[in-house]
Amino acid sequence: MHIDILTIFPEMLEGPFRQSIIKRAQEKELISIALHNFRDYSLTKHKHVDDYPYGGGAGMVMMAEPIVRCIESLTAKRAYDDIIYLTPDGEILTQKIANQISVANNLILLCGHYKGIDERVRELVITREISIGNYVLSGGELAAAVLVDSVVRLIPGVLGDETSALSDSFQDDLLSPPVYTRPYDFRGKTVPDILLSGNDKEIAKWRHEESLERTRKRRPGLFDPD
Ligand code: 6GU
Repeated sequence: MHIDILTIFPEMLEGPFRQSIIKRAQEKELISIALHNFRDYSLTKHKHVDDYPYGGGAGMVMMAEPIVRCIESLTAKRAYDDIIYLTPDGEILTQKIANQISVANNLILLCGHYKGIDERVRELVITREISIGNYVLSGGELAAAVLVDSVVRLIPGVLGDETSALSDSFQDDLLSPPVYTRPYDFRGKTVPDILLSGNDKEIAKWRHEESLERTRKRRPGLFDPD
């Protein structure tokens, strides 16, 4: 999978992509990520990317020209499965959506700022709009990092067997069971003895029951999603 990310703050995304799973996925050449500062595509003398809103009101609006020119320079070279705009009024990211996006070959992610982007960009080039939850972020960059992480870990070969995404919370609409490591006794609190029994079948059964119990208690809505 190749991911092109359009942002006026590329430094915000360099750090997250240089660590851990996403770093290793790039090293293994299972994914490639390119950051593009669409300010470079501005046609104004001072490389403006925003302007006052028609009709007045507070805040600035991101101009169509730099964004669309940047996207056109990419679509001239590759065919994209989706051109995604990260926006608080998009569909809320779920595991199901991450699964859908994880089969893409090429993606463009657009990060907005200020009061949003000129509506005509959305009409002309955006194919999907995603939010990461019902709260306001200062821009789309952190949302793009969340989307990339949730998608990349689903690509075959990115995770080893020991961390397989199949056992993640939400993958089967259940939360994960509690986990323990050494020592057996930590400040008087001991590990459930079933986990020391060596009985794989009983352990699997216990974990499934704990998953059901935890989901029922904490996230009953997960049982009937959508
Ligand atoms: Cl995608 N962008 C912004 N600015 N805020 C958000 C968001 C996105 N998702 C949740 N809050």
